[in-house]
Amino acid sequence: MTGTCAGKVALVTGGASGIGRASAVALAREGARVLVADIVDCAETVAAISAAGGDARACRVDVADEASVDAMVADAVAAWGRLDIAFNNAGVGGVLTRTADYPVADWHKVIAVNLTGVWLCMKAELKQMLAQGQGGSIINTASVAGLVGLGWAPAYSAAKHGVVGLTKNAAIEYARHNIRVNAVCPGAVHTGMTAAADQERPGFLDNLAKQEPMARVAAPEEIASAVVWLASDGASFTTGLAMAVDGGLVAR
Ligand SMILES: NC(=O)c1ccc[n+]([C@@H]2O[C@H](COP(=O)([O-])OP(=O)(O)OC[C@H]3O[C@@H](n4cnc5c(N)ncnc54)[C@H](O)[C@@H]3O)[C@@H](O)[C@H]2O)c1
Repeated sequence: MTGTCAGKVALVTGGASGIGRASAVALAREGARVLVADIVDCAETVAAISAAGGDARACRVDVADEASVDAMVADAVAAWGRLDIAFNNAGVGGVLTRTADYPVADWHKVIAVNLTGVWLCMKAELKQMLAQGQGGSIINTASVAGLVGLGWAPAYSAAKHGVVGLTKNAAIEYARHNIRVNAVCPGAVHTGMTAAADQERPGFLDNLAKQEPMARVAAPEEIASAVVWLASDGASFTTGLAMAVDGGLVAR
């Protein structure tokens, strides 16, 4: 396989659908062997990669559970001997409610998956990359909601701002080890998550599109191409970046 990720081993969480699925497919197209991990079955993503001539395997993980995350990293290493690229992307949306009305149980769920989950993944991946001694690239999925306040999503916004902080902190800690840690901050993207929000609050997607300077919602592949670049040696001097991929939303 040739490509910008040829010879590398990658893992993608939330790989069953949306941004994770598109990124797993794109990383495999660039030559990476990809562990596609999700709390639900990833067979469709793996089949799409295999059909295109790529190398992938499926893994069940709950990113909010440390033992499950450790087993995911061990699975990639057992299969292919190493880990070079990690895309920590699994996430949940949570209810759309203002801060004073937000249910405590929903708060804990969103923080557990979207913030603690990213940290647990980084913890296991960093240990593996440090042991290898050859650097690596970690990419976390934050959001424009991690850069600015959008409203109606206190836990989501807190978690995504937290992901940006975790990313910058780790970038500083591991720069001398050539482990680059960056975040992508997508604007509105057509995925299961936004489709569900649109069902809960009709007009949600139209409203998002109206706020976008480009006046549209992105396809998952438009986020995946940023992920592939951050994973590749083309981004060799880029670390600690919270990269908006948002049609210009936060440029306002
Ligand atoms: N869609 C958007 O507009 C948008 C914008 C900004 C950021 N994001 C972020 O992008 C990421 C991917 O979301 P998406 O839009 O592709 O939605 P999606 O619902 O299609 O994908 C999310 C995936 O995460 C998985 N997941 C949920 N909880 C998990 C857990 N505990 N362990 C492992 N996997 C779990 C789901 O099963 C699902 O496959 C999320 O972090 C989301 O917050 C999305």
